[in-house]
Amino acid sequence: MSADGLPTDGLPTDDVAAARAHRAFTDRFGADPEGVWAAPGRVNVIGEHTDYNDGYVLPVALPHTTRAAVGRRTDGQIALASLQGDGAVVELGIDELAPGRPHGWAGYPAGVIEGLRERLAGGVSVLVDTDVPVGAGLSSSAALTCSVALALRDLVAPELTRIDLVELARRSENHFVGAPTGILDQSASLLCTTGHALFLDTRERRTEQVPLDLAAAGLELLVVDTGTSHTHADGGYGDRRRECEQAAARLGVPALRDVTDVAGLPVLDDDVLLRRARHIVTENARVLQVVAILRGATDPRAIGPVLTEGHVSLRDDFQISTVELDACVDAAVGAGAHGARMVGGGFGGSAVVLVDRDRAGLVADAVRERFAREGYAAPRTFDVLPSAGARRIP
Ligand code: GLA
Repeated sequence: MSADGLPTDGLPTDDVAAARAHRAFTDRFGADPEGVWAAPGRVNVIGEHTDYNDGYVLPVALPHTTRAAVGRRTDGQIALASLQGDGAVVELGIDELAPGRPHGWAGYPAGVIEGLRERLAGGVSVLVDTDVPVGAGLSSSAALTCSVALALRDLVAPELTRIDLVELARRSENHFVGAPTGILDQSASLLCTTGHALFLDTRERRTEQVPLDLAAAGLELLVVDTGTSHTHADGGYGDRRRECEQAAARLGVPALRDVTDVAGLPVLDDDVLLRRARHIVTENARVLQVVAILRGATDPRAIGPVLTEGHVSLRDDFQISTVELDACVDAAVGAGAHGARMVGGGFGGSAVVLVDRDRAGLVADAVRERFAREGYAAPRTFDVLPSAGARRIP
């Protein structure tokens, strides 16, 4: 059931999505692609901004994916097309690729291609198609880079592991596009599996598939896209990252991951750095707490209050929430959700709500009514169950 907006029930099957991308590639480039690959967006259950602090994260993959139809060329050119754009094909020589060139959406796949350029001397054509909401804090950029990374791995670099692809996709965002992200989104897109949350230790790169059978428990995740802007290349995200690094340096540790007790934080005499560090220390503890609850096979409803605590910490200590996200969390919990929090980089985007399936419509209505009363634009809502990671389709 989707309350409105993005119908998850209406998402294409892999077969349908693959056929559509294949056809569009053939129309655009006059040849068949060598295959079609899909990679999902993600919603993070808990563990926000911990990834670039060497900490823990616990995302699930969305059912929404980006598909990449890919075929190698022989003329040394890169050609990139999107079914969501204005239809224009971005074309340039593989030797012309450089950070910022091409820019815009094409920079994401171009950065991945650049990372494997010595294997792609003849060039490559890519056509992408997506259901992942763009700019909603649901990792549309990772879905894009990871679909292309998996395609190129299968075509020209079979020795690369999925962990290697996480790095390839992250480097594309960090060094080519210029967005200083961690590895949460790329790991989620490449490593998540159906019916599980991915517990990732970003320092050790250790992963565990934690069962999260929400359907069996009569639960779902309701995603609320506030429609408010969100982009990583902008300053706020980078500022937080620098503040965390400064806090770690002043505390004399390699990363905030190394602090496990908030009792040690008051030596930071700067209120801003103290707040940033407190969020990271308590957020890492919340990830471990949620994982322990889920591993214990207790009712997953028990994680709800921990999610809401995470929101309060992002709002008050990390200071990256917005009035819309706060209103969403407040209205959802007030209407009987088990827990709710903003997700992703912050400063807009989406919130995730843990809710009984049979109450999801009511909760979505409560959020919509609250937004209308406050004069905010109507949010889009859709429901999510933990879905599959990146794959070749069909
Ligand atoms: C964005 C980044 C991730 C992560 C989250 C916050 O999604 O791309 O690396 O830092 O924000 O948890």
